[in-house]
Amino acid sequence: MTLHARLSRSADRDGANTTFLHDVWHGLAQDQKRISPKYLYDERGSELFVDITRTPEYYPTRTELAILEENAGAIAERIPRGAAMIEFGAGASTKARILLRVADIAAYVPVDISGAFLLGEARQLEQDVPGLKVLPVAADFTAPFELPASIADLPRAGFFPGSTLGNFEAHEATAFLRHAATLLGPGARLIIGVDCVKEANVLNEAYDDAAGSTAAFNLNLLSRINRELGGDFDLNGFRHCAFYNREQRRVEMHLVSRVRQKVRIGGRSFDFRRGETIHTENSYKFTLEQFRSVANGAGWQQAEVWLDPERFFSVHMLVCEDARRK
Ligand SMILES: C[S@@+](CC[C@H](N)C(=O)[O-])C[C@H]1O[C@@H](n2cnc3c(N)ncnc32)[C@H](O)[C@@H]1O
Repeated sequence: MTLHARLSRSADRDGANTTFLHDVWHGLAQDQKRISPKYLYDERGSELFVDITRTPEYYPTRTELAILEENAGAIAERIPRGAAMIEFGAGASTKARILLRVADIAAYVPVDISGAFLLGEARQLEQDVPGLKVLPVAADFTAPFELPASIADLPRAGFFPGSTLGNFEAHEATAFLRHAATLLGPGARLIIGVDCVKEANVLNEAYDDAAGSTAAFNLNLLSRINRELGGDFDLNGFRHCAFYNREQRRVEMHLVSRVRQKVRIGGRSFDFRRGETIHTENSYKFTLEQFRSVANGAGWQQAEVWLDPERFFSVHMLVCEDARRK
């Protein structure tokens, strides 16, 4: 097999489970209970996210795919020939396939915290695109991780679609973009998909689809805690809730306790009032000016931006400031 799965230390099973347990304990001990959205993505979570992207309400995926398809040539022109393309939070790599078709990419490095899902998708891609070097890295991209040594001499292009940046708080988004600049190095480009501010009803429906895919995705977090950390969450005791918080320009996802209850996880117990929530995800929305300012603050300059006709979603080509001065 030509596929080299590189499991970083942070993704090591035991270590990862200990960190997961401590993060859950810490998060559930807060006044506003919270758990990081990165824990929504185990293998089942990644499959459920793919279901979400296929719902009629979830406009971000189909809109970003359309922007990428329409502008693939122009985007490819700005990617250095023979580059390594590093995708942060690759998931099913659906969007990367569009760029891999038109750009001259020597190696594709999908990075994702959902290791088993990542490896399955990488194997499939390797079969579908013979000759493409696929080098998956199972890692948490909010912590330092290493890129494969074999791409050391290649120019680099980063790819960060899906508006995953919107899951970060402002300071985390800046830290991530700075980290990406260091990792990708001078001369690098970063192609990033960012969801735009829009009417509340469009957002509310996108994060609470009629088929219940987003609800299943959110509730899977509790199943995951039960499976991996020996929790005793009763899934019928919680419901999914998502709404646009206009003031904060973010969609919030919560799990709402239907009743007063006690939950045990790894030898500790947590009380829930009826109606009390666990805050599981924020998805910040950006105006073009706002995003440009976040990027500039982290050392990136916008070279180009592509939008759909409704201006629902934006794809930006960023360039490292240093590289621009050269
Ligand atoms: C919103 S989905 C986007 C998936 C895909 N890029 C797309 O555009 O459809 C976020 C992806 O980032 C991954 N992810 C979330 N937090 C992560 C983290 N801290 N480190 C690495 N991957 C992460 C998830 O596993 C998931 O595949």
